[in-house]
Amino acid sequence: MGKIKISPSILSANFSKLGDEVLSLEKAGADYIHIDVMDGHFVPNITIGPEVIKKIRPLTEKIFDVHLMISPVDKYIKDFAKAGADIITFHPEATKDVDNTISLIKKENKKVGISLKPNSKIDLVEDHLEKIDLILIMSVEPGFGGQKFMPEVLDKVKKIKKIITEKKLNVDIEIDGGINFDNSKTVKEAGVNILVSGSTIFKENNGDLKKNIELLRTN
Ligand code: DX5
Ligand code: ZN
Repeated sequence: MGKIKISPSILSANFSKLGDEVLSLEKAGADYIHIDVMDGHFVPNITIGPEVIKKIRPLTEKIFDVHLMISPVDKYIKDFAKAGADIITFHPEATKDVDNTISLIKKENKKVGISLKPNSKIDLVEDHLEKIDLILIMSVEPGFGGQKFMPEVLDKVKKIKKIITEKKLNVDIEIDGGINFDNSKTVKEAGVNILVSGSTIFKENNGDLKKNIELLRTN
């Protein structure tokens, strides 16, 4: 899959100066900006919506990797597309018709991601692989930053990697939750090529974003 990409999650940023944080991430070498959208219904936590994304959009040309943890998801796709999302990732459990949600995202000319929670089976995504750009494997229960990595999801990563390779598909495998300097190598070996990280990037080494992004990339 080529180069490893790092997608820092702004969930761990200081929201009182979100714009500056995004600029700092860009300067520190982030490939994408991971934006966690939570509705207090699909997941227990509530974060931000399209209005905030719209406000930070003019600050950077970095790819906005928008992870929607909202249900139902369809009626908000257009809003997130218009706000400036580049990749729109949803959970299959948050829609009645996965194919329809994929079409709605494609209609906006955005890249499509499907996310699997730790207990969600590959079957939920298998029939759709040809139509999507990215699979986001959750390595914690979605809802909060700073949780512990669940190594049992590595099997799922390996299985998906195998299917993608066999079918010669151009689908990225992204991992999200509890990524740190101890497990970054293992997840890459399993087949991941995009690493999301909030706590590690913002908190390790006294918040040295550049160092932490580089360590996750090369470790
Ligand atoms: C959790 C979010 C993650 C989270 C990652 O629901 O999807 O993106 O912010 O944070 P860390 O790296 O702290 O686990
Ligand atoms: Zn996320």
